[in-house]
Amino acid sequence: MIKKCLFPAAGYGTRFLPATKAMPKEVMPIVNKPLIQYGVEEALDAGMDNIGIVTGRGKRALEDHFDVSYELEHQINGTPKEAYLADIRRLMEECTFSYTRQKEMKGLGHAILTGETLIGREPFGVILADDLCDGEDDGVMTQMARIYAKYRCSVVAIEEVPMEQIHKYGVIAGSEIEDGLYMISDMVEKPEPEEAPSNHAIIGRYILTPDIFDILRETPPGLNGEIQITDALLTQAKRNMVLAYRFKGRRFDCGSMEGFVEATNHYYQQLKEKG
Ligand code: G1P
Repeated sequence: MIKKCLFPAAGYGTRFLPATKAMPKEVMPIVNKPLIQYGVEEALDAGMDNIGIVTGRGKRALEDHFDVSYELEHQINGTPKEAYLADIRRLMEECTFSYTRQKEMKGLGHAILTGETLIGREPFGVILADDLCDGEDDGVMTQMARIYAKYRCSVVAIEEVPMEQIHKYGVIAGSEIEDGLYMISDMVEKPEPEEAPSNHAIIGRYILTPDIFDILRETPPGLNGEIQITDALLTQAKRNMVLAYRFKGRRFDCGSMEGFVEATNHYYQQLKEKG
């Protein structure tokens, strides 16, 4: 039902320098696939085949990854190596990719607003490729699309994190209306532990209704002088309703070295088991 998914991908990836000096962080591989490919596969599994990517300077490799490479196709056509391209070929056949550039880094809310031109007036998914999610049975976006189909409002994915980690996330407070589903009453971007309204941290998966664009336009800069999606969602929660969903599965914070290595081990193990 939701056809579009937006990938904010304009960041510099400074935490991984020098690896990200000439290469976008979204194409850094977890075993044999770029980070962003896992995200696009998750979106497509949820039925979102219209992929919008908000890029920036130095991100050409991203566009090339989802485009045909004629020399490569010519070289390996008809050889056993073709099997390595099966997953990326499926994405290229089944998805359309559109790109727009974010000229200045003014926060995640600003990146999402930059993507308005690719989305228009319909509900859409947002995936932050850094948060790599291995859903239990179904992908996290598929799980969230089900919640959207029932409640027709914006949905954020949450995870319980230790209090000493809470300052890295947007945090919600709310009342539980179903097992693992909360109606949001408060949201704070990257609070100190003593100010955090709970230990329910927002992770990089959102389903947003398109009125979020109008709200973002009115949202003043928040933490670090950036336009925060968390602030815009709080406005939406007060005017209407926003849900927080405790997803089923495992998340790896690939924006940190530790998470990146954990994800690498996890997906390597999966690949070995598949044979
Ligand atoms: C962003 C959001 C934050 C959210 C996080 C999830 O922060 O601003 O609310 O919890 O993504 O990964 P960033 O990690 O981009 O600093």
